[in-house]
Amino acid sequence: MSLRINDTAPDFEAETTQGKIHFHEWIGDKWAILFSHPKDFTPVCTTELGYMARIEPEFTKRGAKLIGLSADPVDRHAAWSHDIEETQGASVKYPMIADAGLEVAKLYNMLPADEVAADGRTAVNNATVRSVFVIGPDKKVKLTLTYPMSVGRNFDEILRVLDALQLNAKHTVATPVNWKPGDDVIIPTSVSDEQAKAKYPGGFTTLKPYLRTVKQPG
Ligand code: BEZ
Repeated sequence: MSLRINDTAPDFEAETTQGKIHFHEWIGDKWAILFSHPKDFTPVCTTELGYMARIEPEFTKRGAKLIGLSADPVDRHAAWSHDIEETQGASVKYPMIADAGLEVAKLYNMLPADEVAADGRTAVNNATVRSVFVIGPDKKVKLTLTYPMSVGRNFDEILRVLDALQLNAKHTVATPVNWKPGDDVIIPTSVSDEQAKAKYPGGFTTLKPYLRTVKQPG
């Protein structure tokens, strides 16, 4: 069964570059971004891990923790992180899950449950292990993404989604196409006009009864 938005993110114990973790405990009361890689020493993923290392402070500011995953053991992750620092100019400070046995990849349905972690498995065999999961402090899945192996992910988009999710959690608003922080937001249809008038004394715009916009609160 594939993981869906609002499902509880499967819990697990795993070895990481920072020791053993119990995933839900590790998340604690933060948001978590779990992003996965098919194999260590792959070119596109090298650039992605370096970029995440560079923008990690932006996630920290938003109360979110980063955790990478790759289908290789910890000692290979450690060696790869030297290459990442050398070529991308940023050192990886977040933990990297060592998923050589593919347990987490299968648990998160990135691979079929009957897949075997045999020697000689390549990045191409694991190509679907190239996903992002945004998980809330309630441990529910808020976003899933899976990318093709030849296309680097846009992690700025994950920051944008996180901003939108956190705004929604605090103010019960939705965000329109290509929204950026500071742009007007949408009043969801679950909020009646009466409730909206009380909530937004400065007024809001009604384009259609189902399409109402207001200045970003907060
Ligand atoms: C990469 O370049 O990161 C990559 C290569 C093969 C499969 C998936 C990713």
